[in-house]
Amino acid sequence: MRRMMAAMPALILDGKIAAAAVLTELRPAIRDLDPQLVVVQVGDDPASASYIRQKMQSCKQVGMRHRHEHLPADTSADTLFRLIESLNADDDVTGFILQLPLPAHLQESVPLFLRSIEPAKDVDGFTAYNLGKVFLSTEYEHLPPATPAGVLLLLDHYHIPVQGKHAVIVGHSNIVGKPLSVMLLNRNATVTTCHIYTQDLAAHTRMADILCVAVGKPGLITADMVKHDAVVVDIGITRTDAGLKGDVDFGAVQEKAAAITPVPGGVGPMTVASLIRNCVHAAQRQRSS
Ligand code: GUN
Repeated sequence: MRRMMAAMPALILDGKIAAAAVLTELRPAIRDLDPQLVVVQVGDDPASASYIRQKMQSCKQVGMRHRHEHLPADTSADTLFRLIESLNADDDVTGFILQLPLPAHLQESVPLFLRSIEPAKDVDGFTAYNLGKVFLSTEYEHLPPATPAGVLLLLDHYHIPVQGKHAVIVGHSNIVGKPLSVMLLNRNATVTTCHIYTQDLAAHTRMADILCVAVGKPGLITADMVKHDAVVVDIGITRTDAGLKGDVDFGAVQEKAAAITPVPGGVGPMTVASLIRNCVHAAQRQRSS
């Protein structure tokens, strides 16, 4: 992406606008299929409560049936497994998600809980089956993880090309960094994935045409780490005394980048939109199977 003047501030990639466009496009299918999304929450993590509110609100706005299953913090693993099994078996539930993190006593069993979710209803795209399909090609990205899919929807909305670009991802989690790297590779980007053991992070980030950061460390990416006219996607979100903060020093980087996502209001709404989109796709696939 080129700009006329080097000093022009970056284009703001507005996730609220792009998410609204995605949801508008989904409305006819939602009317036709009448899918239902269930969000399972265990305990009272404040960040989770806020994310769930946003998910429920977007469902309401777009006319999608939704239910919040809120279990107490001392819920046993057995009770949670039984709830997952009942959601798997309920034909009226199109898709469901287990909001993470779980309370400490359940956290080590997260891989087992995720493994017990029926892949056809895994609208977060966290199961090995759905993550594995993402490895094949774009044609098999049927239920991709919601945040990476949201990043790609945001780039698409602003007509930002990916093919042939050098995408640098900072963060290699199973639900964001790794699948985002693969999904960008599926779209023919040249991809570098950086993480906590990467030596000389800045040497990598300075090479990025598209820089995606998903670490959760406010201010990690400073302006000197960003190439002029890069597209910067900030996926980090941390609650601080000064409010929600991304991983990127927004004020300084926006003077240098061609485009940048704000936090909040960037990737967050796109995650919600792609969760709803996954629910519609799950309903379409369930109807045709
Ligand atoms: N915790 C933070 N983000 C997410 C998300 O997208 N899905 C789930 N299940 N938990 C989360």
